[in-house]
Amino acid sequence: MKKINVGLIGFGNVGTGAVKILSDRKHFLSNKIGLEINIKKICDKDISSKRNVAVDRCLFTKDAKEIINDPQIDIIVELMGGIHPAKEYIAEALKKGKSIVSANKALLAQEGRELFALAQDRGKSIYFEASVGAGIPIIKSLREGLVANKFYSIFGIVNGTSNFILSQMSNNNCTFNDALNEAKAKGFAEKDPTLDIEGMDSAHKLILLTYLCFGRFVSLEDIFIEGISQVSLADVNYAKELGFEIKLLAIAKKESDELEVRVHPTLIPKMHLLSSVSGIFNALYVSSDLAGNLLFYGPGAGQLSAASAVVSDLVDLTQGLKAGMFRPTLNIAVDKSIKKLRRINEIESRYYIRFMTVDKPGVLAKIAGVLAKFGISIASVTQKERKKAQVVPIVMIIHEAKEKDLRSALEIIGRLDIIKEKSVAIRIEEV
Ligand code: HSE
Repeated sequence: MKKINVGLIGFGNVGTGAVKILSDRKHFLSNKIGLEINIKKICDKDISSKRNVAVDRCLFTKDAKEIINDPQIDIIVELMGGIHPAKEYIAEALKKGKSIVSANKALLAQEGRELFALAQDRGKSIYFEASVGAGIPIIKSLREGLVANKFYSIFGIVNGTSNFILSQMSNNNCTFNDALNEAKAKGFAEKDPTLDIEGMDSAHKLILLTYLCFGRFVSLEDIFIEGISQVSLADVNYAKELGFEIKLLAIAKKESDELEVRVHPTLIPKMHLLSSVSGIFNALYVSSDLAGNLLFYGPGAGQLSAASAVVSDLVDLTQGLKAGMFRPTLNIAVDKSIKKLRRINEIESRYYIRFMTVDKPGVLAKIAGVLAKFGISIASVTQKERKKAQVVPIVMIIHEAKEKDLRSALEIIGRLDIIKEKSVAIRIEEV
């Protein structure tokens, strides 16, 4: 049976999982795919710590060049993370004629434009199924399963840490800090959770999803990014009373000839499937013209789930090698009808707004007056408590308004003496 040699750079959690699957399911896989995937070398800076898989020690090296320069290695799996030297390793490997499997969403989001171009130039491929939603086969589905489709939008809950925190707040009435501490204690959040809770991880994934759906490689600066650290328990509960859940959504949406790319906490109606995605789970809601609306759902992290995606990429790549010809990645189709990126100020949305005001006659009239000046129409309004001479929340849902108009109105309202705290505005998506 033909053997395909693979070099692994990065023998951490996911790398160990991939080696374990390839070893435990060796015959299962070779029966299915008609060849053997052989791990020829493994590079890591730590080659002494014990992992939960048996590996012949002679496969280990601390020098990635030994893998990159090995002419017998056809595919390199990069699971080391970080930008440098991962980028240089991948670039060098492509130049040496190797194909790449990577789970490094931060690298591909930041440097993908250059790396994908290099791969195309060399007639090679970079596969990255594990970079979004771990074992959920979203990349392959967008690229292959839905190849005939044009996409309208993709809405993703793509950060398990944030989703766990928001779920704990909604389901168990926890504060943001309590939920974050629980996520850390359970190993769902990093010691420094900034990338996850401030939306950067979701933005990295959104760049890759936007590329696949619309053929546009947007940069981080193109994406409006707002995390969940400012979401309060009060807002989660008021939103619930109004029939919504708050989720951190990564959104790429085409509206006429413009594309919106944004990551922010969003109110989603409770009857929408995405609102019931709880805990560390991820989900992607894709709207396409032929296949309709599709929901992809599953664990968005975990050793074997992510490793399952890595092995799937490896198998895909080996199929071309088996046939004696390289199987190139399908071209990413550029949606030529998109003429520009719509900036956050230009979007139109419904909003949930909470004002903290004194409780006396005329307060609502003053707020409504400013909103009216900007053409903003109120859909519903509730005063949550009645405490004479104290600060009370007024919660509103407003009809579709331009973000720019709402921001201007909120700035003016914020200067009124009846307003006692910074107002909160959260976008609503009907999805
Ligand atoms: N840190 C990510 C999350 C998992 O919390 O979902 C890996 O992409």
